[in-house]
Amino acid sequence: MTRTRSLHPLPILALVFALIGLVGEALAGGHGRAPRPEDLLVDPAKRTDISGTVLITGANRGIGLELARNYAARGWAVIATARKPDKADELNAIAKANRKVSVERLDVLEQGQVDALAEKYKGQPIDVLLNNAAILGAKEPQTLGNYDMDLFLRVMNTNVAGPLRMTQAFLENVAASDQKKIVAITSVQGSITLIRSDTIQFYNSSKSALNMNMRAVSAAVKDRGITVALISPGAVDTDMMRTALAGTNFPMRLLTPADSAEAVINVIDQYGMELSGTFMSHRGSKIPW
Ligand SMILES: NC(=O)c1ccc[n+]([C@@H]2O[C@H](COP(=O)([O-])OP(=O)(O)OC[C@H]3O[C@@H](n4cnc5c(N)ncnc54)[C@H](OP(=O)(O)O)[C@@H]3O)[C@@H](O)[C@H]2O)c1
Repeated sequence: MTRTRSLHPLPILALVFALIGLVGEALAGGHGRAPRPEDLLVDPAKRTDISGTVLITGANRGIGLELARNYAARGWAVIATARKPDKADELNAIAKANRKVSVERLDVLEQGQVDALAEKYKGQPIDVLLNNAAILGAKEPQTLGNYDMDLFLRVMNTNVAGPLRMTQAFLENVAASDQKKIVAITSVQGSITLIRSDTIQFYNSSKSALNMNMRAVSAAVKDRGITVALISPGAVDTDMMRTALAGTNFPMRLLTPADSAEAVINVIDQYGMELSGTFMSHRGSKIPW
């Protein structure tokens, strides 16, 4: 006698919810369908001729490197930071060719290094403080049953406390500038509305926490005319994304880091006080919390 096994509905439901999460990410500007023109808050393809001084964390590779390269090409003064500046070959090559680019040592986990850099630049206006550095962490220790709480704390320390340390240390530099912008590179993965997957849980929750903290900062600095921008850079072909996608078959069209950086900078340029604290995609559209 053959027995037919009925499928349990729970795993099927979990799969459906995971797919909804990924599709949601696509719709929110990670990839996939572009937002409708009426949903655009700013135009990500529009370049301005604004320039100033930008400080970028994690500028030695990935999106941070391309942000540094792009700002430098636009004529900005770039303070590009890296944990290991001696090994930041591509970044050092940009600095060698452009005297407005300086490379500084900075690990955002180290309060002493943050303070030392802030002391070095004391009194110098910084138009855009660009908090880009972050870690994903290994995937397996972020799953229920395998939680590695040291990893959880390191992800939170880097991705949430790091930008807060930088914001506090460089607040007066930003306040003294013309453009007065604090930017956090966040992620659609931090959207509680859109993401239903249980993968990279620590990373995802760090971006939700980053959003909440920077939203609070936006309220705290509003009276000083400082804008706080929360920008997701899209799904970008970097070391981090390669780790995130490893072992999955989800087809994803990735942006180059250079294309992401171009869009992110255009969004930052147009991101005014009226948008402060808004969770936005590199496509210039709002992302739901
Ligand atoms: N790639 C994507 O699709 C994607 C999507 C959404 C959001 N994002 C966000 O975009 C930003 C850049 O990501 P990415 O894809 O370019 O990542 P990546 O290629 O892994 O680069 C991460 C950068 O952060 C630096 N970093 C890590 N920990 C640091 C610390 N403690 N102090 C200072 N720097 C540190 C790294 O420096 P080392 O070289 O020394 O490790 C590296 O320069 C991150 O905020 C990420 O969450 C990326």
